[in-house]
Amino acid sequence: MSHGLFITFEGLDGSGKTTQIRHLAAALEAEGRRVVTLRQPGGTALGDRIRAVLLDSRSEAELGAIAPEAEMALMFADRAQSLREVILPALAEGAIVLCDRYTDSSEAYQGAGRGLGSERILAMHKAVCNDIQPGLTVLLLPRLQSSLYRARRRNERHAQKHGTDENRFEREGDDFYTRVHEQYREIARREEKRVVVIADEAPIEAIASRILEVVHARLEEMAASAERSAVQ
Ligand code: TYD
Repeated sequence: MSHGLFITFEGLDGSGKTTQIRHLAAALEAEGRRVVTLRQPGGTALGDRIRAVLLDSRSEAELGAIAPEAEMALMFADRAQSLREVILPALAEGAIVLCDRYTDSSEAYQGAGRGLGSERILAMHKAVCNDIQPGLTVLLLPRLQSSLYRARRRNERHAQKHGTDENRFEREGDDFYTRVHEQYREIARREEKRVVVIADEAPIEAIASRILEVVHARLEEMAASAERSAVQ
């Protein structure tokens, strides 16, 4: 078994995950802990290629419409690669891995958003990811409309700066995002031990210190259970 802690961040586009990951990584590193951060899709050379295909809204002009099942399978191809190449080795060395999105995203976006259903996603997770789940998931779930507004503004800025866009998902309408949002709530209900939900819109620093508290509590639990098994 691994000794590190695997933490994933989930939420809608524009929910503030990336900022919170940055804060948490800095706080944990300041305590002298080893931290590895990555995002999905992406985070490996193969994953970056997959990301470009999946996220650029111009992909479909070149490749044709991407079937929902193909989208799901590509998300999992990316995930399998980052598990083997980055996540599992880092955990084996005792690092804290902070991953921006993981299988809950596939369940919310492909399962509910695209309508493939949770069962298929969870079966694929078993087959491709050996059912590996994070020790903790931070789900940032502010109001739907404020997330969408932030995501759309950010993508406009990205397109102006880089000449590429990552808009394929942001072009989806409010119905799609309502299904994604609802599915996240359902996952949180189902997995209440693993998933910590932050639903209010407190200032960035206030949310960051709440997340740090939750992570400290989880690390203490792990240390206590390691001590118990050493005594036995
Ligand atoms: P990204 O720019 O990383 O999103 P954000 O910073 O807003 O989290 O884009 C990732 C996009 O890919 C996002 O719209 C959600 C989508 N996605 C899925 O649909 N399924 C998945 O399994 C994953 C990992 C991401």
